[in-house]
Amino acid sequence: MDRKQNREGFSSTLAVFFATLGSAVGLGNIWKFPYLTGQNGGGAFILVYLLCVTLIGMPVMISEFFIGRKARKNAVGAIHGIRPDQPIWKSIGYMGVAASFFIMFFYSAVAGWVYSYVFKAIKGDFGGLSSLSVEEAAKMTADQFGATAGGAFSPMLWQAIVLIVVSAILVAGVKNGIERITKTLMPVLFALIIICDIRALTLPGAREGLSFLFHVDFTKLTAPVILAALGLAFFKLSLGMGTMITYGSYFTNETNLISTSAKVAISDTAVSMLAGISIFPVVFTFGLEPGQGPGLLFNTIPLVFSKIPFGGLLLVAFFVLTGIAATTAMLSLVEVPVAYFTEEKNISRNKAVLLTSAIILLIGIATVHPMSVFGNTVIAGKSFFDLFDFISSNVLLPFGGLLISLLAGHFADISSLRRELSNNDRLNNGNLIGLFLFILKYITPILVLIVFLNSIDIIKL
Ligand code: PHE
Repeated sequence: MDRKQNREGFSSTLAVFFATLGSAVGLGNIWKFPYLTGQNGGGAFILVYLLCVTLIGMPVMISEFFIGRKARKNAVGAIHGIRPDQPIWKSIGYMGVAASFFIMFFYSAVAGWVYSYVFKAIKGDFGGLSSLSVEEAAKMTADQFGATAGGAFSPMLWQAIVLIVVSAILVAGVKNGIERITKTLMPVLFALIIICDIRALTLPGAREGLSFLFHVDFTKLTAPVILAALGLAFFKLSLGMGTMITYGSYFTNETNLISTSAKVAISDTAVSMLAGISIFPVVFTFGLEPGQGPGLLFNTIPLVFSKIPFGGLLLVAFFVLTGIAATTAMLSLVEVPVAYFTEEKNISRNKAVLLTSAIILLIGIATVHPMSVFGNTVIAGKSFFDLFDFISSNVLLPFGGLLISLLAGHFADISSLRRELSNNDRLNNGNLIGLFLFILKYITPILVLIVFLNSIDIIKL
């Protein structure tokens, strides 16, 4: 057990890996990656996304691990610890706390849809699908989704249930909970998505679905598409807002920061790709619209399982596991403000959890559902749901990531960076560290800046 200042920490390198992966894998892979790929034209978007993960995401992730483990504090305190003489850097931490709220406002609502699908699947609401024609089945799933997301009361109730579950886990003592849940369930989720894939690949639309995913058409690469890919890379890997700083602060001294980031990025990307492979064949088999947006997951997965043995049971299992993946990701999202309030504002952990969840619930309920008080308010052409997503993923996270890469690459004490990266063993990771430092200093910040400059008129809103 790794302790400093009596803080709790993850118990082993394996636990570190699974907890970090538990933060990364969530609705981002199963819900957001497929629908953004659908909206942004497929293969070319994925290619840019992969470049963003490697050249921007991984270096920022390693920087966050470094900052967190070196300081062993919450995001704001840890960043301050790297350059106590320049308080301006603390603003990255504040931005992170803000981003965490913005993301949770809509993320907890989508998690609510997932929880409610567990119950729909258990009740057998999708049971009749197998006897319907292709068009009828597609219409029935679309109606189900419309009723789930558009209800006057139930989506708000589900959002509240999600937040109660998240708060209860956070109050009940964290690390053990997070460790145990992620270690057992991540592999099961992986296996289940592979079953979905096998089924999807035997559908008549499989060829078209795969070609949508893997055919790279460079004419699709416009500024908004590139900005969306960058934003997704940050969102996916939980970067740019202090989550990985906070988790890094719980890492063991033996954890290898570079290889952990590579393993997390590869596994996370694999889950997203597998999710895409199970969804797009369905889209083309059932004549659905690939660019339909946030309903995509919910309009396709029930169809995947509609005509296979034990399909009903597998559908329940799929949404249970997606719900769990969303929940472990939310634990890490909420941990940013909670650790900040407890360590910097001296509020008890329980009060911090309650305060954070109450704010998310009140604002979330009032804004992100079509039937909410502000559900139809449009600001700069966007609903609150879209606005929260855009501001966090496409602005705050990449901007936070840019500053984090500058802080670690140009303003931190280089010898302590090298020490953290080699775990105090000068022979460890020698060449890799050189390569990493080069990318971190010169490539990562410049690429983020280029994407930002290219997108100025989109970001102005
Ligand atoms: N990475 C999570 C997902 O893909 C979301 C997340 C974003 C979690 C930022 C923490 C911080 O679902």
